[in-house]
Amino acid sequence: MAKKFKILVTGANGQLGQCIQRVSGHLEHELYYFSSSELDITNKSSVDEICKKINPDFIINAAAYTQVDKAEDEEERAFAVNHIGVRNLTDYCKQLNCGLIHISTDYVFDGEKHSPYIETDEVNPQTVYGRSKLAGEVEILDAKLSKFAVLRTSWLYSAYGHNFPKTMLKFANDRDSLKVVNDQHGSPTSAHDLAEAILKMIPQLTSENSGIYHFSNGGITTWFGFAKALFEQRGVEIELIPVTSEEFPAKAKRPKYSKLENVSVAECFDLEIENWQNALDKTEFS
Ligand SMILES: NC(=O)c1ccc[n+]([C@@H]2O[C@H](COP(=O)([O-])OP(=O)(O)OC[C@H]3O[C@@H](n4cnc5c(N)ncnc54)[C@H](OP(=O)(O)O)[C@@H]3O)[C@@H](O)[C@H]2O)c1
Repeated sequence: MAKKFKILVTGANGQLGQCIQRVSGHLEHELYYFSSSELDITNKSSVDEICKKINPDFIINAAAYTQVDKAEDEEERAFAVNHIGVRNLTDYCKQLNCGLIHISTDYVFDGEKHSPYIETDEVNPQTVYGRSKLAGEVEILDAKLSKFAVLRTSWLYSAYGHNFPKTMLKFANDRDSLKVVNDQHGSPTSAHDLAEAILKMIPQLTSENSGIYHFSNGGITTWFGFAKALFEQRGVEIELIPVTSEEFPAKAKRPKYSKLENVSVAECFDLEIENWQNALDKTEFS
């Protein structure tokens, strides 16, 4: 019989948190979900108190400060959540020998590569958000937990929360044409697929295979290609105009290229990772 784990999920109302709730229903594990108001990961005593009460085998940290542009003006807050919050969870996990699954980002890289980023590539974040997420990664690696996975992902979307395809579909309701950036390359990733992968990885995690992994759906595209596929799949008629990043200035610098190579996680945990177009096709946006 498969082993049953107690799993505590932080950031339960975020995109990934909600996808984990959605996909875990049929599993034997006991899952305990905490939204930001129920468990603020920046509050160490609250982290210790709640975690000790639940006594989980694993924590999935789906909590994060994710507002990339706003982070440029809110550095302290971004680091409080993405660095100190992760340290609080890591300290607990180390003390009580609890496993930790943490989610990181393609923004730890500078986007200057021209082939898929592998786990050992040099990091060089260009934004406050990227630096704060890297600081969280470093906390976990330094702690040398007996069971952990840092999963870097990219271009996350789902039926929940705010994300690119939902914004595109909303715009398409009241516009005839849309300009979309066509010179940034990456892999759209279904938060539903990431949630399923995390839950498959947990029973297989050992001290030998713990580490950093890249998880994104297969293939590569641009934001323009992503929008085009989205509208084609859903039969939305709209004129799409490809533009450069310079025509869409943003406060935080976007990586030009951030495809994450997912072979290592797929092989190590026996995951079948879907192509981004198929994953998108399966997603229902409300
Ligand atoms: N979205 C992307 O495109 C993307 C790309 C690459 C990597 N990632 C990473 O993937 C992970 C999941 O992202 P997501 O898109 O699901 O993010 P999300 O939808 O923004 O959800 C993050 C959740 O964290 C919660 N949170 C914020 N501060 C907290 C705190 N101090 N204590 C506890 N919870 C807190 C938020 O609650 P409130 O809403 O109440 O603040 C929110 O529910 C994150 O680690 C993110 O960095 C995301």
